[in-house]
Amino acid sequence: MKHLLYFVPAVCFPIILFAQNSNTKPLPQLGKNSIKEVIAAMTLEEKAHLVVGMGMRFGPQPPRRDSTKTPALQQQPVIGQTQQKVPGAAGTTFAIPRLGIPSIVVADGPAGLRIQPIRNNDSSKTYYATAFPVATLLASTWDTALIKKVGVAFGSEVHEYGVDILLAPALNIHRNPLGGRNFEYYSEDPLIAGSMTSAIVNGIESNGVGTSIKHFAANNQETNRNTINTIVSERALREIYLKGFEIAVKRSQPWTVMSSYNKINGTYTSEEHDLLTTILRKEWGFKGFVMTDWFGGKDPVAQMKAGNDLLMPGSHQQVQRIIDAINHDSLDVKVLDQNVEHILNIILQSPSFKGYKHSDKPDLKKNAEVSRTAAEEGMVLLRNESNTLPLKSAKKIAAFGNTSYDIIAGGTGSGDVNKAYTVSLAEGLTNVGFTVDENLKNSYTSYIADAKAKRPKPRNFFQQPPAIAEMWIETNELAQKANDADAAIITIGRNEGEGADRKLENDFYLSDTEKTLIKNVTDAFHAKNKKVIVVLNIGGVIEVASWRDNVDAILLAWQPGLEAGNAIADILSGKVNPSGKLATTFPVDYKDVPSEKNFPGKEFPEQAVEGNFGRKQIPAEVTYEEGIYVGYRYYNTFNVAPAYEFGYGLSYTNFTYSNLKLSSSSFNGKITATVTVTNTGKVTGKEAVQLYLSAPAQKLDKPVEELRAFAKTNLLQPGKSQTVKFTLNAAALASFDTQNESWIAEAGKYTVKIGSSSKQIKQTATFGLANDIVVEKVNKALSPQININEYKSDKANAKGFIYDLNGFVAISK
Ligand code: BGC
Repeated sequence: MKHLLYFVPAVCFPIILFAQNSNTKPLPQLGKNSIKEVIAAMTLEEKAHLVVGMGMRFGPQPPRRDSTKTPALQQQPVIGQTQQKVPGAAGTTFAIPRLGIPSIVVADGPAGLRIQPIRNNDSSKTYYATAFPVATLLASTWDTALIKKVGVAFGSEVHEYGVDILLAPALNIHRNPLGGRNFEYYSEDPLIAGSMTSAIVNGIESNGVGTSIKHFAANNQETNRNTINTIVSERALREIYLKGFEIAVKRSQPWTVMSSYNKINGTYTSEEHDLLTTILRKEWGFKGFVMTDWFGGKDPVAQMKAGNDLLMPGSHQQVQRIIDAINHDSLDVKVLDQNVEHILNIILQSPSFKGYKHSDKPDLKKNAEVSRTAAEEGMVLLRNESNTLPLKSAKKIAAFGNTSYDIIAGGTGSGDVNKAYTVSLAEGLTNVGFTVDENLKNSYTSYIADAKAKRPKPRNFFQQPPAIAEMWIETNELAQKANDADAAIITIGRNEGEGADRKLENDFYLSDTEKTLIKNVTDAFHAKNKKVIVVLNIGGVIEVASWRDNVDAILLAWQPGLEAGNAIADILSGKVNPSGKLATTFPVDYKDVPSEKNFPGKEFPEQAVEGNFGRKQIPAEVTYEEGIYVGYRYYNTFNVAPAYEFGYGLSYTNFTYSNLKLSSSSFNGKITATVTVTNTGKVTGKEAVQLYLSAPAQKLDKPVEELRAFAKTNLLQPGKSQTVKFTLNAAALASFDTQNESWIAEAGKYTVKIGSSSKQIKQTATFGLANDIVVEKVNKALSPQININEYKSDKANAKGFIYDLNGFVAISK
């Protein structure tokens, strides 16, 4: 109640103030009159308030509209503290009731709606949301129809809990495995990222609510995220970092886009007109509004001019600076009117505007089923020696590893979800009929509880509690377990979230206690001729090459949402045949990563300034020297063998590929490829079929191949086939020619490679293109001001590379 009171003056004060400005004529009303008429009736103050969010609650302080002396920004941030409409939502916009403009609610996040589950300490009614699998898992399904269904379920919760816009999905590129928010993002490949995004956006928005695709753009690290200047070529931007957003905007027209924290080539993205207006609106046809990330950017006036329509979460100072700029002619009111118009266009479609009476009762049971199905479809079987999986005769399982009992449904920060429960692996195994070693379970449960009680409490929203070291188990006890159980499962878990990147030690690489656990368990179980299966409960890539040969099977379960244990058990038991494939490469070692030398960049501590919440902001810069050679584009072109390549994933059955046919041997506007996929194994299964294209590199340097289309087959019975059809248009052939600011398809020979992964190409066919095609001429935008020494596949003198004797480029370390 106390908190609610703060909002009363915030809402009433402006109404009284602005109502005095009105004359006796009836006022235009949003929805009844045109938006232009509504804007014409708005005062400058109302406009400035509409483009700035309602602020955020910081502990007991009142929100920003109560007094010019607030808010106390020195306080720690608490994401999701606008109490006014939906507790736990990340923000709201300013209401102008006299013109029929309601406040709309925006809430995180990418793996489920993030709102407060209990209100006013009353647990008789709860507001839990479904934790869906994290984005890395969703992308590994390679199934856009399924991801759309996830979106439909997800959006129903947004709608029924009274939220207007979901602050998701997030689609930044996995540039480096240490990226702290990679779990929130889909892939290292923009076609996957853009396709998944548009599928989920279409699903979510089919409920009549909005999305905010984020973080636009080139936000690929958490270290110095509010100051980092990303120095990147136009080509890498266009082909890698903007491409997914372009696909998503063109295929799903999301209600909003969230600009990112970082700078691109010297300018904050939220202040960059080229990015937010020239490219996003003019070139791609975006119709919604752009909002900042929370406290993103510096200059509200520059943000308005750039086309960043809404500043979130919003502060009193920002409102004042916009008003001052108009009064002092440094901001044209036409620009502000445009920003206002973009926002009103979306408010008009919102549930809040339509007066939707949300039930606060989404169908959580049904949505948990959707979450479970998606989880099962996106888990990737990395290793399966001698058909260890599915577990057929094994009934008694010894489950090791903390996360077998304390499973991680999803990451932390704004990507976290307040869910009612998470099914642990031990529970999931029991649910499908395995017997889980009870003594071991009890030891782990009390060990974890004890370790958690001793952990220091996180000091703020962004701080992670330290991971719990694996429990030491005596070798004689392990020998006993190996005697009693039919098989061992070891779960290795990782948790991460916004605010920090991951570390190499004890994170990318296994910790000593994890290595010891794997070694001791395998020694004990192999001595008894029993199998050891590792389950990876992780959000991002870890090192696997040094230890994988010791274990019999590895299931990459990712962070699979609230039905985690059930979904994993369905795969281990064979109830579900795994069909997930990697949408991000697992390198052999960190030194193989193309951005290794340029992550997370350089800091300039001597120029540090005080930022929000009393935190030091250190200017920093990172140069994307790898250019377009991100992920498999690099590993495959520069001949660096990965541990598990992009597109990789095993199944309990086998598939053969046959009969690849192209519609023509020469390209004429478009070309179709058909290929037949047959299940030649003994169990039903699905296959993610991948089309890579090798394009001629005449003028432009090119990766050896790039993913240009993909599809997932239906569930195929043994012996059954499906013919998959792909269509390539000119855009699918094109690369970005910086000199001419154009997408061009170069004349020459193109090879279509159909594969079950980027390395396992099963069928190839070629077609020719007689003359260069200028597919699209675009604007010169976002050019770096310095020369970037980018990797080139065909230049011996490119930094860090030498030719080996076979003519391959090998990395020189
Ligand atoms: C995150 C965004 C999120 C916002 C609101 C920021 O810290 O970067 O992804 O949507 O907070 O919670």
